[in-house]
Amino acid sequence: MVYEAIPRNVRIILLGEPGVGKTSLILSLVTEEFTEHVPPKAEEITIPADVTPEQVPTNIVDVCLNEQTLEQVSEEIEKAHVICIVFSVDKQETLNKVASYWLPFVRDNCPEDYRKPVILVGNKIDLIDYSVIDNIWDIAEEYPEVDRCIECSAKTLTNVSEMFYNAQKAVLHPIHPIYSIEEQE
Ligand code: GTP
Repeated sequence: MVYEAIPRNVRIILLGEPGVGKTSLILSLVTEEFTEHVPPKAEEITIPADVTPEQVPTNIVDVCLNEQTLEQVSEEIEKAHVICIVFSVDKQETLNKVASYWLPFVRDNCPEDYRKPVILVGNKIDLIDYSVIDNIWDIAEEYPEVDRCIECSAKTLTNVSEMFYNAQKAVLHPIHPIYSIEEQE
């Protein structure tokens, strides 16, 4: 298995079911406040190197299935270095879709021997008082490209910058080897 060479910029894409809070997460990161009414899709955002913890220019790309075709989403996945799949922690069906739809869709759009890191993002933790991380281990085991899982809230800004920082780190400091043992055998 070959992983991508470390790039000079980081391109992050947010995927997931409608309404899980992808646009809100991006706008909360940029404005440092939560806005109730957000557009269906955020414009692509470029964060200059000097304001990112890793000092690397970072582009953040929103996806909205009501405004884009699946072909356009596929093209965006191909261009991205890291994929954040967002679900809403208060809606089990949005987590179910991570495993049944989004992870296979991402695999379908990456060459078989060329994996991009995936971050699973449980948004809206302000709505519940328990953690759903335990429901994710089986998914992470089945899809080793799942690099990290994080729970956050665009509304209270909890873990929002950490989520994007983790996405940067997954690209710049991959925890997976460049070549896997299977490949060398
Ligand atoms: P699509 O554009 O349909 O793909 O949706 P999206 O994933 O971009 O979700 P969006 O950011 O539009 O948010 C959907 C709804 O969830 C909005 O009403 C937001 O205000 C709300 N929302 C987003 N993040 C949070 C959060 O962390 N907590 C709470 N309570 N609500 C949130």
